[in-house]
Amino acid sequence: MSEKGILTQPGGRESLILRLKEAQNKFGYVPQEVMAELAQSLGIPINEVYGVASFYSFLSVRPLGRNVIRICRSLPCYLKGAQTIIQTVEKELGIKPGETTPDGRFSFQFTNCIGLCDRAPAMMINHDAHVELTPEKIAQILQTYR
Ligand code: FES
Repeated sequence: MSEKGILTQPGGRESLILRLKEAQNKFGYVPQEVMAELAQSLGIPINEVYGVASFYSFLSVRPLGRNVIRICRSLPCYLKGAQTIIQTVEKELGIKPGETTPDGRFSFQFTNCIGLCDRAPAMMINHDAHVELTPEKIAQILQTYR
């Protein structure tokens, strides 16, 4: 049994994502030791566990900031100016995608389509959806999370 108590039942490959999501919900990311334990208990190579944990945008292999910004960069959002939104967030926070602000308030990531294409460009901050983004809106939105 894990010291962090994440391994609640035996399983196989089919339960890997479920178990990774459990870890993400519990710790806010998937700690290295949890990945190692899942690899051992599920009989899956550690590099495969890491590959899955680092592939999905709803999982993180590193601790994240208190607020996680996920900007959609799928085609409909891209065509509606997502790149400008990305640049605005970078400028406002002084970080690049994949980074966390030094004060731990924000992490900035990309995501694929979040189902809000009709109101593109769109992003999520934690569980909140923000749509029809403009550079002007970004500063106002970020202010509410500071
Ligand atoms: S493409 Fe961005 S929300 Fe669907």
